[in-house]
Amino acid sequence: MEIKSVRISVGKGYDVSIGKNLLGSCGELIVKAVKPCRAAIITDSTVEKLFLVTVAESLRNAGFTVCAFSFPAGEQSKTIETLSAILEFLAENHLTRTDCVIALGGGVVGDIAGFAAGCYLRGIRYVQIPTTFLAAVDSSVGGKTGVDLRVGKNLAGMFIQPEAVVCDTDCLEQLPGEVFSDGAAEAIKTGILSGEQLFSLFENGDVKSSLTKIIETCVAFKGSIVETDQFENGLRKTLNLGHTIGHAIEKCSNYTISHGHAVAVGMAVIARAADRLGLSDPPVAPRIEKALIRNGLTVHTDFSAEELTAAALSDKKRAGDEITLVIPGGIGSCYLKTIPVTELNSVIKAGLEER
Ligand code: GLY
Repeated sequence: MEIKSVRISVGKGYDVSIGKNLLGSCGELIVKAVKPCRAAIITDSTVEKLFLVTVAESLRNAGFTVCAFSFPAGEQSKTIETLSAILEFLAENHLTRTDCVIALGGGVVGDIAGFAAGCYLRGIRYVQIPTTFLAAVDSSVGGKTGVDLRVGKNLAGMFIQPEAVVCDTDCLEQLPGEVFSDGAAEAIKTGILSGEQLFSLFENGDVKSSLTKIIETCVAFKGSIVETDQFENGLRKTLNLGHTIGHAIEKCSNYTISHGHAVAVGMAVIARAADRLGLSDPPVAPRIEKALIRNGLTVHTDFSAEELTAAALSDKKRAGDEITLVIPGGIGSCYLKTIPVTELNSVIKAGLEER
């Protein structure tokens, strides 16, 4: 069993283990970072049926005492109410400061379970076991946790790094196409940010047979950014490529459009805007659109510039009367551009107009 390991050197640091068939031995990997204790597995109704028994058994075999909490799958569950139910569950099961939370699932599970771990008893340890492509390449690494508020996505949360991340690539083979594409969007984002080597895989290569390599590359790239800027004061903002408009699309759709699919459109819109406003050289939109479409994603939205602007202005990336956008100046050369909020509508409009 070959395991790739990527070290993320933030705080005391942690390892991201990537490989096939790791769920059945996740206890052995986790116990290297967290000594046997009470472990509360937080998962959702979909993942529970697929993987909970295997993970719980492996943890027990490694010496952990296990309890589990499951909530209905979907972004609609990423609320203060679910967070509150998880915190009550941790308290009812007598977890103490020496115990830990195991986040077993996709981005919603990882974000809310990490947030619960961060605020329960003012912070206990947690481990991420991502079971979706999106969680594997992006959300399980870097310590962003949170829940959505009615006004917008991820508006309450904290930065708290996990003790370990265990990524079993076999989980990804069972994903429905739409869910796989969600992760492809975040991986393509990393390709646009990092450069030709990763991006060209999505443009022309065989993605499914390169999964371990893609995850390893995305995690290492994200790690290098988070190590420099854990709290998103500068460089880490580039990881929000496509997210201002993406979050607006999610919100306008009442979260019926999933995160990756919305971010894909967000990246296409900002790429077309960059080309039309002379902010990229050479033009990037045709290549970005091709990579997205080839991987099951769409590049257009029916929402108007006005609707998207209104939604984007409640995003946490707004700072007073300014908002910082990530501009894809080229593949491997993205940069931040802060504009007055009054200019956002015309940028979005430029990106929505048909060629
Ligand atoms: N998903 C972007 C970040 O973790 O900063």
